[in-house]
Amino acid sequence: MFQIKDELYWVGVKDWGLKSFHGTHFLTPRGATYNSYLIKDKKIALVDAVFEPFAGDYVDKLAAEVGLENIDYIICNHAEIDHGGALTALMNRIPETPVYCTAKGKDIIKAQHHREWNFVTVKTGDTLDLGRNKLTFIEAPMLHWPDSMMTYVSGANVLLSNDAFGQHYATSEFFNDEVDQCILYDEALKYYANILTPFGRLIQPKVNQLSGLNVPIDMIAPSHGLIWRTDPMQIVNKYLEWADAYHEGHVLILYDTMWGNTEKMAHAIAAGVEQAGVPYKVLRTNKLPKSDIVTEVFKAKGILMGSSTMNNTVLSDIAGLVNEFKGMRFRGKHAAAFGSYGWSGEAPKIASKLLQEAKFNVELEPLRILFTPDAEQLERCRRFGNQFAISLG
Ligand code: FEO
Repeated sequence: MFQIKDELYWVGVKDWGLKSFHGTHFLTPRGATYNSYLIKDKKIALVDAVFEPFAGDYVDKLAAEVGLENIDYIICNHAEIDHGGALTALMNRIPETPVYCTAKGKDIIKAQHHREWNFVTVKTGDTLDLGRNKLTFIEAPMLHWPDSMMTYVSGANVLLSNDAFGQHYATSEFFNDEVDQCILYDEALKYYANILTPFGRLIQPKVNQLSGLNVPIDMIAPSHGLIWRTDPMQIVNKYLEWADAYHEGHVLILYDTMWGNTEKMAHAIAAGVEQAGVPYKVLRTNKLPKSDIVTEVFKAKGILMGSSTMNNTVLSDIAGLVNEFKGMRFRGKHAAAFGSYGWSGEAPKIASKLLQEAKFNVELEPLRILFTPDAEQLERCRRFGNQFAISLG
């Protein structure tokens, strides 16, 4: 148990060994934490639990350090199993303890755990008095799931924001001011890009709602990673920036290639982008995990996507990635497609169509080259890259 502030304690788990999250979907080379919080007031409230594989140790530790029978309320801000997974083990020991959650949360918890517990469903503005501290619940649907909510602890003046403002970053430290800021922001951005991009339109209204509460926020304590103690609003301001069709101004040239011809095109295209004075990155799809590619697309202003044609279609890495991009619902990004082919040459057109379906702004006709580009064809590639970069304005 680690004291965060006043009567607020961290009772979570540091998962140093976690290397991927959401199955194999999101690589987490720096591990993760499942932050569970305890408010030890006249009444004791436990806010969020931990991932199911840690349930046994988590419950035993709470029993030893707090006494499970002393926990008056369990608050489930979000039922996804990285937080709610330990509920069955916990509730088996204290089945009568009320579980506070949203109405959606109750549905999801029941569908996951198949138990009838003493649920108390709450809405935005509902409160729970603990003594010196009072909890105020704020629904936050789709940040990250339909059931999500945040809990504001007045008295301690801490916002327990659940998934929002988190990072997958296990450290021995607890606070944002204790770690390398580059790593912290690298992880916070990667987390936002991969988890919250599809729900970006909800960020501004939620921040407005939080501001409208007119309450002091001394800390923002998410359910993953470091707690924002120094200048906690810095991460809120970053979220507003990230949610507003964010880009860092550069072009990402992302390709897969069979025999190196599409790769030759990629480098010639990059030369054209460079001649326009626009920064760029060149990335082959097999060089980074998918979650890092999503992060790279999130940071780019435009992407040029290359694929050889194989069996009349795009290479499978490209198809999988564009499908992923479609789900991410990126906003305000430009794109175009290119690729080398041997006889039928469908891939650039298909990639172009897939990019349009994924809501990229596609204006340039796709560029395709038969087999190995010669000097004149490489010049066409250069002009293609140049035209694309200039079109970004
Ligand atoms: Fe950290 Fe949406 O769970």
